[in-house]
Amino acid sequence: MAGNIHISEHPLIQHKLTILRDAATEHKKFRELIREISMLLAYEAMTDLELAQTTVQTPLEKAPGFELQAEIGLVPILRAGLGMVDGIHEMIPGAQVWHLGIYRDEETLRPVSYYNKLPVEPTVQVCLVLDPMLATGGSATAAIQVLKEWGVRRIKYVGLIAAPEGINVVVNDHPDIPLHLAAVDDHLNDNGFIVPGLGDAGDRQFGTA
Ligand code: PRP
Repeated sequence: MAGNIHISEHPLIQHKLTILRDAATEHKKFRELIREISMLLAYEAMTDLELAQTTVQTPLEKAPGFELQAEIGLVPILRAGLGMVDGIHEMIPGAQVWHLGIYRDEETLRPVSYYNKLPVEPTVQVCLVLDPMLATGGSATAAIQVLKEWGVRRIKYVGLIAAPEGINVVVNDHPDIPLHLAAVDDHLNDNGFIVPGLGDAGDRQFGTA
């Protein structure tokens, strides 16, 4: 894949993703897996975060150390991105969480924005856009555009499963944005669902199927 597309080959991610796909996996287990896979993907996505040098007083003496330099924003796309937040937030407790409400019109498959409470001035320098499913790419492209217009310096997309069609759309519209994914599937079906995919990630998390 192109340089900005990162497909994890981590055995834990691939193992957990397989259970996530299983139609027999019930809601509670599904939510646990979304949380765990998201933490692992975010860990991989953040290997190049900038650090500032600092010192720390150990019980013995001062030691050199590091601290994260950038303010980090976690940006889940409602609804399905919600389940990706908590695990990553535990790893970065100082992160800000900014929700974006975007749903996909069932007829046109075009993204419809319905919730955005971003303040006028950006309050973060690095954002992770969180959404398990990248299908046509419309929702991801729209979310990234919102964050660029907000003034975020670095944006990374973290998703679980993507369709090749959607990746092409995002890469075409935002070639500067890295995509961190657990898998690229075969294709989109006529309803815009990723095949083989895992079904509807929102419905399977929240029991609304
Ligand atoms: C799903 C998914 C993505 C979007 C992907 O959300 O969670 O946000 O569709 O499709 P796209 O790449 O074609 O834009 P959905 O629209 O079902 O909303 P929901 O999570 O609120 O159910």
